[in-house]
Amino acid sequence: MSETITAPATQQDDKFSAERISWLHRWHDKLFSFRLTRPEGFRFTPGQFARLGHALPDGGHVWRAYSMVSAPWDDYLEFYSIVVPGGQFTSRLAQQGVGDSVLLERKATGFFTADRLPDGEQLWLLATGTGLAPYLSILLQEDVWQRFEHIVLVHCVREVGELAYREEIAALREHPLHGDAYAHKLQYLPVVTREQVPGCLHERIPALLASGELAAAAGLVIDPEVSRFMICGNPRMVKDTYAQLQQMGCRLARLAAPGQVVLENGW
Ligand SMILES: Cc1cc2nc3c(=O)[nH]c(=O)nc-3n(C[C@H](O)[C@H](O)[C@H](O)COP(=O)(O)OP(=O)(O)OC[C@H]3O[C@@H](n4cnc5c(N)ncnc54)[C@H](O)[C@@H]3O)c2cc1C
Ligand SMILES: NC(=O)c1ccc[n+]([C@@H]2O[C@H](COP(=O)([O-])OP(=O)(O)OC[C@H]3O[C@@H](n4cnc5c(N)ncnc54)[C@H](OP(=O)(O)O)[C@@H]3O)[C@@H](O)[C@H]2O)c1
Repeated sequence: MSETITAPATQQDDKFSAERISWLHRWHDKLFSFRLTRPEGFRFTPGQFARLGHALPDGGHVWRAYSMVSAPWDDYLEFYSIVVPGGQFTSRLAQQGVGDSVLLERKATGFFTADRLPDGEQLWLLATGTGLAPYLSILLQEDVWQRFEHIVLVHCVREVGELAYREEIAALREHPLHGDAYAHKLQYLPVVTREQVPGCLHERIPALLASGELAAAAGLVIDPEVSRFMICGNPRMVKDTYAQLQQMGCRLARLAAPGQVVLENGW
């Protein structure tokens, strides 16, 4: 990734601050990543999201949830964004560049965190599209690598050009945080549904689970005793994937009743 150019925040309020875009990377015509300056005191657990906003001409604001991609110790906040044509927030965001400002609510929120899952042998991180974002931060958490023997990151997109962060994911295996001891633990399984791409699976995630193709690709046997799942992305994918996992004997993880699955709808 490129160097961060740090720019100071400009505007402050009780609930939010205006933070500057310090870095921007376009992956695809509808996908880009950007970093914001991080205000002092902004804390989060990997998997949580921030609310980002823009001021509107009528004096109001538009706010949208964005999962953090970066690590809790980075001095910037990185996000990975779709551009929705005509979308109230992203059509504004897509016009901005380094030095422009974005509003950031002071408190991160959300319950899509790995600590909600009981320990197990396998951690499956299932994403469509920008649902990849929280996993990039979660995979920077050392205890996740300690708690699970196998970590399988599955990223499902329509076209191969939407497989963002491939180099960064490969680099996670060599991350100084984990060292060689953990390098073997991570498997990355890209899925492309609307193109045939060598090295990529080609069906939607629920179908790959049902057929056993996903487990076979990872060389693992899915078993509620040892398998744990995080699901994030298209709400229909989240629903269909959870329905498939229920058929395989898995349940939502709740405080009162430990289960195998935590999920987050991507919009
Ligand atoms: C908990 C949570 C975390 C989120 N994290 C991210 C994130 O890290 N990155 C991100 O880009 N978005 C994320 N979103 C979605 C984000 O909040 C906005 O919906 C998105 O920025 C589009 O805003 P918009 O105003 O342009 O369009 P909206 O009016 O919000 O959405 C219009 C339509 O665009 C589609 N859409 C919205 N978001 C997405 C998306 N991410 N991928 C594919 N289609 C989408 C849906 O069909 C939606 O109905 C998250 C949402 C939630 C609830
Ligand atoms: N990607 C594009 O080229 C494109 C073009 C025009 C508009 N858009 C708009 O951009 C937005 C986001 O597009 P996106 O491509 O990031 O997100 P998306 O439509 O959620 O697709 C991402 C991946 O999720 C899969 N998927 C969709 N529904 C699923 C389900 N019920 N179960 C399992 N998997 C499912 C898709 O498979 P399938 O391929 O089988 O659907 C695809 O591989 C949408 O609002 C869309 O209308 C995108």
